[in-house]
Amino acid sequence: MRRVFAGVGILVAAVLAGWVLAGPTLRPVAAQDAANTPAFYTEKVRPLFVTNCGKCHMDMNHKGGLSLQTKDSTMKGGRHGAVIVPGDPANSLLVKLIRHEGPPDDPRPMPAKAPKMSDADIATIEQWVKAGAVMPDDPAPAP
Ligand code: HEC
Repeated sequence: MRRVFAGVGILVAAVLAGWVLAGPTLRPVAAQDAANTPAFYTEKVRPLFVTNCGKCHMDMNHKGGLSLQTKDSTMKGGRHGAVIVPGDPANSLLVKLIRHEGPPDDPRPMPAKAPKMSDADIATIEQWVKAGAVMPDDPAPAP
């Protein structure tokens, strides 16, 4: 009977130790990893750009001088210069415009002529900018 208790005790101790060690250290690192990989852009961010911004800022369209088609064009920005400051969403014009916290016009809130994006979608883009706005060199062409 005592051996069983000792065994259970060791098991519980091991699980607790694993939880204590892995819990605080591993989880935030994993979340960051996700947002600062090119895959995060390709799987989460680009589909939002294609759906909400594509008809004015992708393919042949570069309203306001801004094309979100390639990494170079995205980072170059538009008529007002860079629209993304990697690591600094609060100072990124693109983020301000989709949060409707930029100027009322020229440039106006984005997406132009459409309702504000959902909070969750805005948060995804902000998270991506905050993690460094990492993009593959050659993102998939817009459909
Ligand atoms: C219906 C067309 C349209 C859509 C959709 C649209 N935009 Fe725009 N965008 C414009 C126009 C036009 C401008 C030029 C400024 C103005 O007219 O206010 C602009 C300007 C901008 C600028 C400022 C560029 C600069 O340097 O002045 C940013 C950033 C921007 N758009 C981001 C976005 C994002 C991100 C989306 C998708 C969430 C989006 N836009 C969707 C038409 C659009």
